[in-house]
Amino acid sequence: MSDIFIGIASDHAGFELKERLIAWMKEKRYVYKDFGAYSEESSDYPDFGHPLALAVEKGECRFGIGICGTGVGINIVMNKHQGIRSALCWRPEIARLTRAHNDANVLALPGRFLSEQEAIDIVESFLSTEFEGGRHIRRIEKIPVL
Ligand code: RB5
Repeated sequence: MSDIFIGIASDHAGFELKERLIAWMKEKRYVYKDFGAYSEESSDYPDFGHPLALAVEKGECRFGIGICGTGVGINIVMNKHQGIRSALCWRPEIARLTRAHNDANVLALPGRFLSEQEAIDIVESFLSTEFEGGRHIRRIEKIPVL
């Protein structure tokens, strides 16, 4: 496992929230890697979601945060990877439950539908919750498509 704790990626629609979350992560002294996009110029979420998903799968990053307008597109992309359990979250309680029950390793956020503070609350909830294990292990073991 590398020292990069969080990988973060967005398309143009998630760019502004990504930049705000990066500023917050700097303040918190998280070690992060920015996978782009690097501007609000129109771009395609798979171009950023796939590299982030690969980095999490390889263990280069412990967790990922993917952002697009709705969060849906980048969430679909990242969940194509067998080692990824990406959860689209719009409330802190959903982020807590997806860590506790699904052992989600990527958080997908709807950049056009969250304030900065709402997003920070969701990220904090996601990062501060441990997987509960127990009966949930059996369930997540049934997820991969062989
Ligand atoms: C871009 O306009 C938008 O379609 C994209 O960010 C995302 O919401 C797709 O799921």
